[in-house]
Amino acid sequence: MTPIRTADTIGVAAAVEALRRGDLVAIPTETVYGLAADARDDHAVAKIFAAKKRPRFNPLIVHVENLSVAREMAVFNPAALALAERFWPGPLTLVLPRREATVSLLATAGLDTVAIRVPNHPVALALLSAFDGPLAAPSANPSGRVSPTRAEHAAEGLSGVAMVLDGGPCVVGLESTIVGFDDGQPVLLRAGGLSRATIEAVAGPLSIRTTQGAPSAPGQLASHYAPRARLRLNALAPLPHEAFLTFGHTAPMTANPSLNLSPSGDLTEAAANLFAYLRALDSSRASVIAVMPIPVDGLGEAINDRLQRAAAPRDEVPE
Ligand code: TXA
Ligand code: MG
Repeated sequence: MTPIRTADTIGVAAAVEALRRGDLVAIPTETVYGLAADARDDHAVAKIFAAKKRPRFNPLIVHVENLSVAREMAVFNPAALALAERFWPGPLTLVLPRREATVSLLATAGLDTVAIRVPNHPVALALLSAFDGPLAAPSANPSGRVSPTRAEHAAEGLSGVAMVLDGGPCVVGLESTIVGFDDGQPVLLRAGGLSRATIEAVAGPLSIRTTQGAPSAPGQLASHYAPRARLRLNALAPLPHEAFLTFGHTAPMTANPSLNLSPSGDLTEAAANLFAYLRALDSSRASVIAVMPIPVDGLGEAINDRLQRAAAPRDEVPE
Protein backbone atom coordinates (compact mmCIF):
# COMPACT_ATOMS: atom_id res chain seq x y z
CA MET A 1 0.00 0.00 0.00
CA THR A 2 1.19 3.48 -0.85
CA PRO A 3 1.30 5.84 2.18
CA ILE A 4 -1.57 8.34 2.32
CA ARG A 5 -0.80 11.93 3.43
CA THR A 6 -3.28 14.57 4.43
CA ALA A 7 -3.15 17.41 1.94
CA ASP A 8 -2.26 20.13 4.45
CA THR A 9 0.66 22.52 3.98
CA ILE A 10 3.16 19.90 5.13
CA GLY A 11 1.65 17.17 2.96
CA VAL A 12 1.70 19.40 -0.13
CA ALA A 13 5.32 20.39 0.58
CA ALA A 14 6.30 16.72 0.88
CA ALA A 15 4.55 15.98 -2.42
CA VAL A 16 6.41 18.83 -4.14
CA GLU A 17 9.68 17.48 -2.80
CA ALA A 18 8.90 13.98 -4.11
CA LEU A 19 7.91 15.34 -7.54
CA ARG A 20 11.11 17.42 -7.74
CA ARG A 21 13.09 14.25 -7.03
CA GLY A 22 11.39 12.67 -10.05
CA ASP A 23 9.08 10.46 -7.97
CA LEU A 24 5.38 9.72 -8.50
CA VAL A 25 2.60 11.19 -6.34
CA ALA A 26 -1.09 10.29 -6.59
CA ILE A 27 -3.02 13.54 -6.44
CA PRO A 28 -6.68 14.47 -6.07
CA THR A 29 -8.47 16.26 -8.88
CA GLU A 30 -12.19 16.99 -9.26
CA THR A 31 -12.52 14.13 -11.79
CA VAL A 32 -10.45 11.20 -10.52
CA TYR A 33 -7.18 10.76 -8.66
CA GLY A 34 -4.22 11.22 -10.98
CA LEU A 35 -0.80 9.55 -10.90
CA ALA A 36 1.40 12.60 -11.26
CA ALA A 37 4.99 13.11 -12.38
CA ASP A 38 7.01 16.11 -13.54
CA ALA A 39 5.84 16.41 -17.17
CA ARG A 40 9.24 17.83 -18.21
CA ASP A 41 11.16 14.78 -16.98
CA ASP A 42 11.25 11.73 -19.29
CA HIS A 43 12.50 9.50 -16.48
CA ALA A 44 9.74 10.54 -14.10
CA VAL A 45 7.11 10.07 -16.83
CA ALA A 46 8.49 6.60 -17.63
CA LYS A 47 7.78 5.64 -14.01
CA ILE A 48 4.08 6.36 -14.63
CA PHE A 49 3.93 3.78 -17.40
CA ALA A 50 5.87 1.31 -15.26
CA ALA A 51 3.57 1.82 -12.24
CA LYS A 52 0.39 1.49 -14.34
CA LYS A 53 1.82 -1.44 -16.32
CA ARG A 54 0.57 0.13 -19.54
CA PRO A 55 1.26 -2.15 -22.50
CA ARG A 56 1.48 0.96 -24.69
CA PHE A 57 2.66 4.51 -24.40
CA ASN A 58 -0.66 6.34 -24.47
CA PRO A 59 -0.22 10.10 -24.48
CA LEU A 60 -0.91 11.55 -21.03
CA ILE A 61 -2.85 14.61 -19.90
CA VAL A 62 -0.63 17.45 -18.71
CA HIS A 63 -2.01 19.44 -15.78
CA VAL A 64 -1.11 23.10 -15.40
CA GLU A 65 -1.93 25.86 -12.96
CA ASN A 66 -3.68 28.29 -15.29
CA LEU A 67 -4.32 29.30 -18.88
CA SER A 68 -1.24 31.47 -19.24
CA VAL A 69 1.03 28.53 -18.38
CA ALA A 70 -0.93 26.40 -20.87
CA ARG A 71 -0.36 29.00 -23.58
CA GLU A 72 3.40 28.68 -23.10
CA MET A 73 3.08 24.96 -23.85
CA ALA A 74 0.53 24.83 -26.64
CA VAL A 75 -0.87 26.88 -29.51
CA PHE A 76 -4.48 27.93 -28.85
CA ASN A 77 -6.93 28.54 -31.70
CA PRO A 78 -9.88 30.90 -31.01
CA ALA A 79 -12.34 28.10 -30.15
CA ALA A 80 -9.83 26.52 -27.76
CA LEU A 81 -9.25 29.86 -26.09
CA ALA A 82 -12.99 30.43 -25.63
CA LEU A 83 -13.39 26.95 -24.11
CA ALA A 84 -10.43 27.36 -21.77
CA GLU A 85 -11.59 30.79 -20.61
CA ARG A 86 -15.06 29.46 -19.90
CA PHE A 87 -14.33 26.02 -18.39
CA TRP A 88 -10.89 26.15 -16.74
CA PRO A 89 -10.29 25.19 -14.06
CA GLY A 90 -12.54 22.24 -14.80
CA PRO A 91 -13.06 18.74 -16.27
CA LEU A 92 -12.15 19.70 -19.84
CA THR A 93 -8.95 18.62 -21.59
CA LEU A 94 -7.87 20.34 -24.81
CA VAL A 95 -5.61 18.65 -27.37
CA LEU A 96 -3.55 21.33 -29.10
CA PRO A 97 -0.32 21.64 -31.11
CA ARG A 98 2.56 21.53 -28.67
CA ARG A 99 5.33 24.06 -28.57
CA GLU A 100 8.86 22.67 -28.67
CA ALA A 101 10.84 21.42 -25.74
CA THR A 102 8.51 22.16 -22.86
CA VAL A 103 7.01 18.75 -22.14
CA SER A 104 8.61 15.28 -22.15
CA LEU A 105 8.30 13.54 -25.52
CA LEU A 106 7.24 10.42 -23.66
CA ALA A 107 4.34 12.26 -21.97
CA THR A 108 2.90 13.07 -25.40
CA ALA A 109 3.93 9.67 -26.83
CA GLY A 110 5.88 11.43 -29.53
CA LEU A 111 2.83 13.30 -30.85
CA ASP A 112 3.02 16.89 -32.09
CA THR A 113 0.05 17.71 -29.89
CA VAL A 114 -0.35 17.93 -26.15
CA ALA A 115 -3.46 17.29 -24.03
CA ILE A 116 -3.75 19.96 -21.33
CA ARG A 117 -6.12 20.86 -18.55
CA VAL A 118 -6.36 23.01 -15.43
CA PRO A 119 -7.92 20.83 -12.70
CA ASN A 120 -10.61 22.34 -10.50
CA HIS A 121 -9.47 21.10 -7.12
CA PRO A 122 -7.92 23.25 -4.38
CA VAL A 123 -5.26 20.65 -3.52
CA ALA A 124 -4.27 20.09 -7.15
CA LEU A 125 -4.05 23.83 -7.74
CA ALA A 126 -2.05 24.41 -4.54
CA LEU A 127 0.31 21.63 -5.58
CA LEU A 128 0.73 22.96 -9.14
CA SER A 129 1.41 26.42 -7.76
CA ALA A 130 4.00 25.18 -5.25
CA PHE A 131 5.61 22.80 -7.75
CA ASP A 132 5.68 25.56 -10.34
CA GLY A 133 5.67 23.21 -13.32
CA PRO A 134 3.43 20.94 -15.42
CA LEU A 135 2.34 17.54 -14.08
CA ALA A 136 1.59 14.60 -16.36
CA ALA A 137 -1.14 12.50 -14.76
CA PRO A 138 -3.26 9.64 -16.00
CA SER A 139 -5.82 8.13 -13.64
CA ALA A 140 -4.08 6.52 -10.66
CA ASN A 141 -5.13 2.92 -11.35
CA PRO A 142 -3.37 -0.04 -12.91
CA SER A 143 -4.01 -0.20 -16.66
CA GLY A 144 -7.44 -1.65 -17.43
CA ARG A 145 -8.84 -1.09 -13.93
CA VAL A 146 -11.39 1.36 -12.60
CA SER A 147 -10.27 4.94 -12.01
CA PRO A 148 -9.89 5.84 -8.30
CA THR A 149 -12.10 8.54 -6.82
CA ARG A 150 -10.87 8.28 -3.22
CA ALA A 151 -7.39 8.37 -1.71
CA GLU A 152 -7.76 4.80 -0.39
CA HIS A 153 -8.50 3.50 -3.88
CA ALA A 154 -5.46 5.28 -5.29
CA ALA A 155 -3.31 3.72 -2.56
CA GLU A 156 -4.18 0.20 -3.73
CA GLY A 157 -2.79 -1.59 -6.70
CA LEU A 158 0.10 0.63 -7.79
CA SER A 159 3.68 0.09 -6.76
CA GLY A 160 6.50 2.59 -6.97
CA VAL A 161 4.39 5.58 -5.86
CA ALA A 162 5.88 7.85 -3.19
CA MET A 163 2.56 8.89 -1.63
CA VAL A 164 -1.11 9.56 -2.14
CA LEU A 165 -2.11 13.12 -1.31
CA ASP A 166 -5.57 12.84 0.28
CA GLY A 167 -7.88 15.57 -0.97
CA GLY A 168 -11.12 13.76 -0.16
CA PRO A 169 -13.51 12.08 -2.57
CA CYS A 170 -13.58 13.36 -6.16
CA VAL A 171 -16.62 15.53 -6.85
CA VAL A 172 -17.00 14.69 -10.55
CA GLY A 173 -15.89 11.06 -10.38
CA LEU A 174 -15.54 10.72 -14.14
CA GLU A 175 -12.51 11.59 -16.28
CA SER A 176 -12.38 14.92 -18.07
CA THR A 177 -14.01 15.43 -21.46
CA ILE A 178 -11.33 15.59 -24.16
CA VAL A 179 -11.73 17.97 -27.08
CA GLY A 180 -9.37 18.19 -30.04
CA PHE A 181 -9.55 20.36 -33.16
CA ASP A 182 -9.72 19.75 -36.89
CA ASP A 183 -8.90 22.97 -38.74
CA GLY A 184 -9.94 24.93 -35.67
CA GLN A 185 -13.26 23.03 -35.37
CA PRO A 186 -13.81 21.24 -32.05
CA VAL A 187 -13.97 17.44 -32.07
CA LEU A 188 -15.09 15.30 -29.14
CA LEU A 189 -12.30 12.78 -28.46
CA ARG A 190 -13.57 11.40 -25.15
CA ALA A 191 -16.87 11.97 -23.39
CA GLY A 192 -16.35 12.85 -19.75
CA GLY A 193 -17.13 15.06 -16.81
CA LEU A 194 -18.20 18.11 -18.83
CA SER A 195 -21.29 17.45 -20.92
CA ARG A 196 -21.36 17.80 -24.65
CA ALA A 197 -24.27 20.28 -24.48
CA THR A 198 -22.36 22.50 -22.07
CA ILE A 199 -19.37 22.59 -24.40
CA GLU A 200 -21.49 23.12 -27.50
CA ALA A 201 -23.13 26.16 -25.89
CA VAL A 202 -19.72 27.84 -26.07
CA ALA A 203 -18.01 26.23 -29.06
CA GLY A 204 -20.85 25.25 -31.38
CA PRO A 205 -21.51 21.72 -32.64
CA LEU A 206 -18.88 19.13 -31.76
CA SER A 207 -18.08 16.48 -34.29
CA ILE A 208 -17.18 13.06 -32.99
CA ARG A 209 -14.07 11.24 -33.99
CA THR A 210 -15.43 7.81 -34.71
CA THR A 211 -12.10 6.04 -34.33
CA GLN A 212 -12.32 6.16 -30.53
CA GLY A 213 -9.19 4.06 -30.39
CA ALA A 214 -7.11 6.58 -32.27
CA PRO A 215 -5.80 8.61 -29.36
CA SER A 216 -4.84 5.47 -27.46
CA ALA A 217 -3.16 4.12 -30.59
CA PRO A 218 -0.96 7.08 -31.43
CA GLY A 219 0.68 5.17 -34.28
CA GLN A 220 -2.52 5.68 -36.24
CA LEU A 221 -2.68 9.44 -35.88
CA ALA A 222 -1.61 11.47 -38.89
CA SER A 223 0.06 13.99 -36.61
CA HIS A 224 2.07 11.26 -34.93
CA TYR A 225 5.78 11.65 -35.03
CA ALA A 226 7.21 8.89 -37.18
CA PRO A 227 10.93 8.89 -37.76
CA ARG A 228 11.94 9.84 -41.28
CA ALA A 229 14.33 6.91 -41.28
CA ARG A 230 13.06 3.36 -41.63
CA LEU A 231 13.53 1.07 -38.64
CA ARG A 232 15.15 -2.36 -38.76
CA LEU A 233 14.26 -4.27 -35.61
CA ASN A 234 16.14 -7.00 -33.71
CA ALA A 235 19.44 -5.99 -35.26
CA LEU A 236 22.57 -7.33 -33.58
CA ALA A 237 24.87 -4.94 -35.43
CA PRO A 238 24.36 -2.00 -37.78
CA LEU A 239 25.03 -2.12 -41.52
CA PRO A 240 27.48 0.53 -42.77
CA HIS A 241 24.94 3.29 -43.38
CA GLU A 242 22.60 2.62 -40.49
CA ALA A 243 22.25 4.49 -37.25
CA PHE A 244 22.09 2.13 -34.27
CA LEU A 245 19.76 2.21 -31.29
CA THR A 246 21.16 -0.15 -28.70
CA PHE A 247 20.14 -1.55 -25.33
CA GLY A 248 22.04 -3.13 -22.47
CA HIS A 249 25.66 -3.85 -21.74
CA THR A 250 26.15 -6.23 -24.68
CA ALA A 251 25.77 -3.41 -27.24
CA PRO A 252 28.66 -3.73 -29.72
CA MET A 253 31.01 -0.82 -30.29
CA THR A 254 30.42 0.89 -33.62
CA ALA A 255 31.57 3.95 -35.52
CA ASN A 256 27.97 4.50 -36.73
CA PRO A 257 25.82 7.14 -35.04
CA SER A 258 24.62 5.20 -32.02
CA LEU A 259 22.74 5.72 -28.76
CA ASN A 260 22.14 3.27 -25.92
CA LEU A 261 18.62 3.36 -24.44
CA SER A 262 19.96 1.93 -21.19
CA PRO A 263 23.50 0.61 -20.83
CA SER A 264 22.48 -1.12 -17.58
CA GLY A 265 19.48 -2.81 -19.25
CA ASP A 266 16.86 -0.88 -17.24
CA LEU A 267 13.57 -0.84 -19.20
CA THR A 268 12.19 2.19 -17.35
CA GLU A 269 15.29 4.15 -18.31
CA ALA A 270 14.95 2.85 -21.89
CA ALA A 271 11.33 4.04 -22.05
CA ALA A 272 12.38 7.46 -20.82
CA ASN A 273 14.95 7.76 -23.59
CA LEU A 274 13.02 6.13 -26.45
CA PHE A 275 11.36 9.07 -28.21
CA ALA A 276 14.22 11.49 -27.66
CA TYR A 277 16.79 9.00 -28.97
CA LEU A 278 14.70 8.09 -32.04
CA ARG A 279 14.55 11.80 -32.85
CA ALA A 280 18.26 12.26 -32.28
CA LEU A 281 19.23 9.31 -34.50
CA ASP A 282 16.75 10.49 -37.14
CA SER A 283 18.53 13.82 -37.26
CA SER A 284 21.81 11.99 -37.98
CA ARG A 285 20.31 11.67 -41.53
CA ALA A 286 20.84 7.91 -41.65
CA SER A 287 18.16 6.36 -43.85
CA VAL A 288 17.74 3.36 -41.55
CA ILE A 289 17.85 3.06 -37.77
CA ALA A 290 18.79 -0.46 -36.71
CA VAL A 291 17.41 -1.37 -33.30
CA MET A 292 18.81 -4.03 -30.98
CA PRO A 293 16.34 -6.55 -29.50
CA ILE A 294 14.54 -5.17 -26.44
CA PRO A 295 13.19 -7.65 -23.87
CA VAL A 296 9.38 -7.81 -23.73
CA ASP A 297 8.96 -7.86 -19.96
CA GLY A 298 7.79 -4.81 -17.97
CA LEU A 299 7.90 -1.62 -20.03
CA GLY A 300 9.60 -3.64 -22.79
CA GLU A 301 6.14 -4.55 -24.09
CA ALA A 302 5.24 -0.90 -24.65
CA ILE A 303 8.68 -0.13 -26.08
CA ASN A 304 8.36 -2.99 -28.57
CA ASP A 305 4.82 -1.92 -29.45
CA ARG A 306 6.04 1.57 -30.27
CA LEU A 307 9.02 0.29 -32.25
CA GLN A 308 6.83 -2.07 -34.28
CA ARG A 309 4.51 0.82 -35.16
CA ALA A 310 7.45 2.93 -36.22
CA ALA A 311 8.89 0.05 -38.26
CA ALA A 312 5.64 -0.86 -40.06
CA PRO A 313 5.17 0.27 -43.67
CA ARG A 314 3.90 3.84 -43.45
CA ASP A 315 0.55 3.16 -45.13
CA GLU A 316 -0.37 0.18 -42.97
CA VAL A 317 0.45 0.98 -39.39
CA PRO A 318 -0.87 -1.85 -37.18
CA GLU A 319 -3.62 -1.08 -34.68
O1 TXA B 1 -9.90 13.52 -15.66
C1 TXA B 1 -8.86 13.24 -16.26
O2 TXA B 1 -8.66 13.59 -17.41
C2 TXA B 1 -7.82 12.43 -15.49
C3 TXA B 1 -7.35 13.28 -14.32
C4 TXA B 1 -6.23 12.63 -13.54
O3 TXA B 1 -6.98 14.56 -14.78
N1 TXA B 1 -6.71 12.08 -16.33
C5 TXA B 1 -6.84 11.16 -17.33
O4 TXA B 1 -5.67 10.94 -18.02
O5 TXA B 1 -7.87 10.60 -17.60
P1 TXA B 1 -5.43 9.71 -18.98
O6 TXA B 1 -3.94 9.62 -19.14
O7 TXA B 1 -6.13 8.49 -18.51
O8 TXA B 1 -6.04 10.19 -20.32
C6 TXA B 1 -5.19 10.24 -21.42
C7 TXA B 1 -6.00 10.20 -22.67
C8 TXA B 1 -5.34 9.31 -23.70
O9 TXA B 1 -5.67 7.96 -23.54
C9 TXA B 1 -5.90 9.90 -24.94
O10 TXA B 1 -7.21 9.39 -25.11
C10 TXA B 1 -5.98 11.37 -24.63
O11 TXA B 1 -5.97 11.49 -23.24
N2 TXA B 1 -4.84 12.12 -25.14
C11 TXA B 1 -3.76 12.57 -24.47
N3 TXA B 1 -2.92 13.23 -25.27
C12 TXA B 1 -3.48 13.21 -26.49
C13 TXA B 1 -3.10 13.74 -27.75
N4 TXA B 1 -1.97 14.40 -27.91
N5 TXA B 1 -3.92 13.51 -28.79
C14 TXA B 1 -5.08 12.85 -28.63
N6 TXA B 1 -5.49 12.33 -27.45
C15 TXA B 1 -4.71 12.51 -26.41
MG1 MG C 1 -7.38 6.20 -17.19
